[in-house]
Amino acid sequence: MHPIVIANWKMNPETFAEAKRLFESIKKTASTSKTVDIVITPPSVFLQGLASGYKGSLVRFGIQHARAENAGSYTGDISMIQAKNAGALYALIGHAERRYPKEGVGMTNEDARAQVRSALSLAMKPVLCVGEQSRDEHGGHLAYIKEQVDVALADVQKHQFKDIVIAYEPVWAIGAKEAMLPHDIHETTLYIRKVVADKFGSKPALSMPILYGGSVDDANARVVLREGTTQGLLVGRASLDSLTFAKLVIALKNL
Ligand code: PGA
Repeated sequence: MHPIVIANWKMNPETFAEAKRLFESIKKTASTSKTVDIVITPPSVFLQGLASGYKGSLVRFGIQHARAENAGSYTGDISMIQAKNAGALYALIGHAERRYPKEGVGMTNEDARAQVRSALSLAMKPVLCVGEQSRDEHGGHLAYIKEQVDVALADVQKHQFKDIVIAYEPVWAIGAKEAMLPHDIHETTLYIRKVVADKFGSKPALSMPILYGGSVDDANARVVLREGTTQGLLVGRASLDSLTFAKLVIALKNL
């Protein structure tokens, strides 16, 4: 399995012209790094413009957030089916910045569950983002993650695991100075596999890619992937600078 790198641009860049420049550079990186699967989740207003002009297959697109309902009175929102029509194959679901927004009310595990169901019904690939807000020595964070996984995957059938990706992102490591220690990443992703195995059996649990996200950059990407034993990375800030992102992807070639 190739490592997956998801470039989560969040609410960047400011203009479509800049987004196109960044995409041009990522296309070049992708053409020299065919052993790494690259996915970009641009702001939704740029998605169609970027995806419709791209005839290649080395870069895939995703949506950062979309509602489960196909249509309706939800001012300012977009639906999963609209995202698919605009060119998204992947859907980030339950990113920390949607669960715990700086203002307003965040999405719940039940919202994530509906979005996973919606994405799968559209033959999209849900990237379920989970992670604790803080850790405690009694392991309360593990129960917290278990609940996130159990509820969001409650409607999934065993055979659908071939399309599911989990991104483990401890909230405290997002936008931070340093990533989580690889040993702790390893331990937590093992736990997530166990949660999935307990419910769905070991086959889906072992084959499902688990990514890590939270302060990954070109300097730590390789170690995080190898020693954290993850199958890919969800990258925020380091995906916005073309040179840094190119170095990050190159670091994952020939693992
Ligand atoms: P970061 O963001 O790489 O800037 O920490 C990661 C994320 O939010 O997915």
